[in-house]
Amino acid sequence: MLDWKTNNAMAAGKGATVQQFVAIVGKDRLEAEVAPWGEGLLKINGREIARVDDAIDRRQAFRAIKLIAERYVETHMVKNTALALPSVKAKLLEGKRGLIVGIANDKSIAWGCAKAFRALGAELAVTYLNDKAKKFVEPLARALEAPILMPLDVSVGGQMEAVFERIGKEWGKLDFVVHSIAFSPKDALQGRVVDVSREGFATTMDVSCWTFIRMAHLAEPLMKKGGTLFTMSYYGSQMVVKNYNIMGVAKAALECAVRYIAAELGPKGIRVHAISPGPLATRAASGIPEFDALLDKAKSQAPARSLVSIDDVGVATAFLAHDAARLITGETLYIDGGYHIMD
Ligand SMILES: NC(=O)c1ccc[n+]([C@@H]2O[C@H](COP(=O)([O-])OP(=O)(O)OC[C@H]3O[C@@H](n4cnc5c(N)ncnc54)[C@H](O)[C@@H]3O)[C@@H](O)[C@H]2O)c1
Repeated sequence: MLDWKTNNAMAAGKGATVQQFVAIVGKDRLEAEVAPWGEGLLKINGREIARVDDAIDRRQAFRAIKLIAERYVETHMVKNTALALPSVKAKLLEGKRGLIVGIANDKSIAWGCAKAFRALGAELAVTYLNDKAKKFVEPLARALEAPILMPLDVSVGGQMEAVFERIGKEWGKLDFVVHSIAFSPKDALQGRVVDVSREGFATTMDVSCWTFIRMAHLAEPLMKKGGTLFTMSYYGSQMVVKNYNIMGVAKAALECAVRYIAAELGPKGIRVHAISPGPLATRAASGIPEFDALLDKAKSQAPARSLVSIDDVGVATAFLAHDAARLITGETLYIDGGYHIMD
């Protein structure tokens, strides 16, 4: 439902002829003009979209225009709104270049990060898992104006190296990396930790933890003037969270790797962080049983009484890439409305 408000700048009420109502969708301004004799006009950003001239009065004309506007927004604008980047005046990350790994679709945490980094002026290289994923990621990469878009399945030998090699050739430097990927085979993830197979454990640790270590290794020579490395973790690394199981073990190792790498690369001006968002309904999350219960608990118990969005995660992550955060490193930053401080 659109939120129509009377435009008080235009004459309204008794005696007024044409009345105007305004609704805002993202960056777009919708105007509905209705006349008492049953004429109506819909404009979007000043351009005429539809006209009604056979209504019996103003009220009926407005109803018809509202309906047309809602259909128009659904079919033409909602998709674009999902692609829209936040509008930010200060391009605080202008001149910085970064790699974003882990966009599967517009619900991905990596997409929230990419939008924030781009909105702040950074230039981005983006990867997609495989051909099947490409059709979802490509339009997003276009919205980000990403000059580098490459396939990256971390379990395929050579693909990670190829991405960093291309960045080295085209950019000659790298300022940040967002590693936002995790994977665990279903039987490993959904079973008890005590029952996990050697293969299940190895795959979980390999994709969810070792790949971050390797990306740090590949990024180091490109971060000649320093940089920031990010990975995504979760509270289940610290506490036993029902159904998080072996992924909690992998995230604990990941957060520990963050501290070691931060200590090792700190003298070169490279900072390393784990970002720990509260639960978000993404594709990866759909592999965790009873995830809705986790969302309900997070919302009702977090001091902020709110779930987080991928945009919340994105802006906080982007802040840590800014020079203002140059003396913050090795951190696990919770973006969870404060949930982690509660018992
Ligand atoms: N959703 C949550 O509630 C939540 C909370 C805290 C942390 N996280 C973490 O955030 C990160 C991103 O997950 P998300 O929730 O945005 O889900 P998502 O499904 O949108 O992203 C997961 C990404 O991992 C990628 N991936 C999996 N296997 C891969 C492989 N072999 N090679 C390359 N990429 C691979 C997928 O392609 C996908 O892009 C993960 O590390 C996840 O554990 C998620």
